[in-house]
Amino acid sequence: MATVNSRRRAAENKAERRGHGIARALLCAACALTMATAAPAQTNPDEDRQPVMPARLPDPLLFANGTRVATPAQWPRRRKELLQLFTAQMYGRMPGPPAQMRFRVYDLDRHALGGKATREQVSVLFLGQEDGPRIDLLVYVPNSMPNQAKRPPVILGLNFWGNETINPDPGIRISDRWVESGPSSYLDLSCVKNHRATEACRGIDATRWPVEKILDAGYALATAYRGDVDPDRRDGYAESIRSAWPELAQVGDNFSTIAAWSWAMSRALDYLEQDRLVDGRHVVAFGWSRLGKAAIWAGATDPRFAAVISNESGAGGAKVFHDVHGETVELLNTRFPYWFCRNFRQYNGRDAEMSFDQNEVLALIAPRPLYIASAIQDENADPQGEFLGALAASRVYRFLGSPGLPANVWPGVNQPLLGPVSYHVRSGVHSVTDFDWEQYLRFCDAYVKGAARPR
Ligand code: GCU
Repeated sequence: MATVNSRRRAAENKAERRGHGIARALLCAACALTMATAAPAQTNPDEDRQPVMPARLPDPLLFANGTRVATPAQWPRRRKELLQLFTAQMYGRMPGPPAQMRFRVYDLDRHALGGKATREQVSVLFLGQEDGPRIDLLVYVPNSMPNQAKRPPVILGLNFWGNETINPDPGIRISDRWVESGPSSYLDLSCVKNHRATEACRGIDATRWPVEKILDAGYALATAYRGDVDPDRRDGYAESIRSAWPELAQVGDNFSTIAAWSWAMSRALDYLEQDRLVDGRHVVAFGWSRLGKAAIWAGATDPRFAAVISNESGAGGAKVFHDVHGETVELLNTRFPYWFCRNFRQYNGRDAEMSFDQNEVLALIAPRPLYIASAIQDENADPQGEFLGALAASRVYRFLGSPGLPANVWPGVNQPLLGPVSYHVRSGVHSVTDFDWEQYLRFCDAYVKGAARPR
């Protein structure tokens, strides 16, 4: 039930969003004067829409046979049922950790980043072969730790364009894999020549990866390039690690690209668990956008992840499909038919009727800490739908004895809700900003650092 306070806050938020809208309308009026013949300015008509919980949102606390999960002791059984359901219908099957997998450290520099960090680079050789499928994992470990703590917790996330893009550090090995090029609304990729990274690509995405800030807060950062795992193209199967398991290809619940990214995050965690420089018992799965979708599924399938941070993961991530706004199941399956398994296509056009939804995937992470973040102009990701995902999953957190999300109304822009389930909607567009990271580090300080191992 919304309290008087929460209603007042909702009204204030609305006023604030209106103010925001008026400022933009004035700005757009100004552009219109100078760009009389240009296309109409983009507005965000959805900004004032308050999230409304869909009446028929599937309830993770009901078993498939309709009986209620009565006690926390029954949750693992329901959890297993949900994992099987989402594997079969959406993400597809994954292989187990390969017995032949080995790690080869090819760089260890204790004076990286002007002495601030130790930089490790390691190839995770999935099948044990140098020329077989692998990821190159880049790990920065802070050289000095606040409060004399010994080993730092780790924030682990895949990156979009190559390890060398996250920092200008000349010691980072430049990716030798296929990289997208051409116009991107996210980044100037003119450094990429013939789909290969060049020296000029160093640090081009550094604003989204504030390495020093993360290290100063006492966290290690580990990352690998998404293209090491899967090139993220319709015709990318042969270059994807998925092709190492052909038996998982010709089935309706085929090993999908999102699942492959999640799986690779688990393999990176296998390495971090035995890395003596970091606290492998406190590894947070982080991801932005499509890689946020992967971070959520990694946290759902692998209970060793201590927490999950989803930055604007949208459809197929934190957003509930039953809130039919922004990207739909059909759009996802049309633009990126390889992201999810083939069985998922039968739900095209049926977002509001599906018998499962993403609040249940988020619930699979419970009671481990979870941060869902949105950006107000990121309509494609449906910020309201992402909030509803967090709010609905929070019921399972409370059922398991965690306070979950500390409010039940959509907060104002740039007013984070910090709790075991955290949420914010920030101003601006689809990206990862300093504001986002400041909240994630506060969240990790509060709920990850020093917390008992989740299992
Ligand atoms: C597209 C896609 C989203 C995805 C995003 C991204 O916009 O529609 O689902 O999250 O790309 O990964 O950047």
